[in-house]
Amino acid sequence: MKRMLSGIKPSGQLTLGNYIGALRNFVNYQDEYEMFVFIANLHCITVYQDPQELRTNLRDAATLYLACGLDPKKATIFLQSDIKEHAQLGFILACNSYQGELNRMTQYKEKIAKKEKSITVGLYTYPVLMASDIIIYDCDFVPVGEDQKQHVELARDIAERFNNNYGQTFNIPQPLIPQVGARIMDLVDPTKKMSKSDDNAKGCIYLLDDLKIARKKIMSAVTDNEANVHYDKTKQPGISNLLTIMSSLTTEPIASIEARYQGIGYGTFKKEVADVVCVTLASIQDRYHQIKASDILDQVLADGAKKVSAIASKKLHEVQVKIGIEIK
Ligand code: AMP
Ligand code: TRP
Repeated sequence: MKRMLSGIKPSGQLTLGNYIGALRNFVNYQDEYEMFVFIANLHCITVYQDPQELRTNLRDAATLYLACGLDPKKATIFLQSDIKEHAQLGFILACNSYQGELNRMTQYKEKIAKKEKSITVGLYTYPVLMASDIIIYDCDFVPVGEDQKQHVELARDIAERFNNNYGQTFNIPQPLIPQVGARIMDLVDPTKKMSKSDDNAKGCIYLLDDLKIARKKIMSAVTDNEANVHYDKTKQPGISNLLTIMSSLTTEPIASIEARYQGIGYGTFKKEVADVVCVTLASIQDRYHQIKASDILDQVLADGAKKVSAIASKKLHEVQVKIGIEIK
């Protein structure tokens, strides 16, 4: 069975973008692959987090993994910081990565371009830790949304370089990007991605949003004056985003939705999108409350950590011997 791994960085509440671009796909893959899914809590702190809020977001995210359908009997779910080997291998990989490579990372470049203050060293080296998360388990596939593709490509480059320098050590992973829904856009500004760390909560649907609020956000999503439910990301980014959301959640092809809405106004279309989104949220939220009440989370995370820690420590040892830092 091929191995698949992915993580989410809950630096806020999880969004519909996380669900469509990532989580939902993890659930679909868990029968076919050996699936490792973790909460990237170390990645969260690359930007300051209020400790109390962070704890809540981490527990909510792990509970939402289960609520969205990850089954701990099939998938291994764990907390990144429980496996200390990630950070240690991360440092070793940092010594095998170049400043030039990190300077080219789009997410970092965007922060620099926005002249954001207090960019931490951790934020800069974030992709190296992510490479460590991935290659420490020799995984074959990494399902992620579009924004993470470049980071997975960097992980491949680092693994290849290490293999060339020290002999075959790491498997080379492949990113898996969904065909529809890899980049869900903000509802207020559909030219930028829907993001949980956004200041404008109106553009972002959270998985735990009150259904009335979620509906309101969809109904007031920015559209255009074309009066045509048609997929055209450049001319009609808002409508295209709503089409993508609807198609991802129902599996109805975009062309077929367009055909059904010929000559019908945006209001009716938005209402149907809101219905579909609310059905999805309602079912996730129901399960979220059940899981929260059942108190199984700590056990799930402990079992997950126990399972992967043996793999991680064996790989780290192999690496340390190869690079010559073990002297026993
Ligand atoms: P993050 O929230 O940055 O930790 O991302 C977790 C996963 O969700 C990654 O695989 C991202 O690529 C994916 N993701 C985040 N935001 C979106 C979005 N707006 N559309 C699609 N996928 C997303
Ligand atoms: N950087 C990812 C994000 O922000 C989260 C992440 C951390 C991840 N490590 C990973 C995703 C390893 C896939 C594989 O979305």
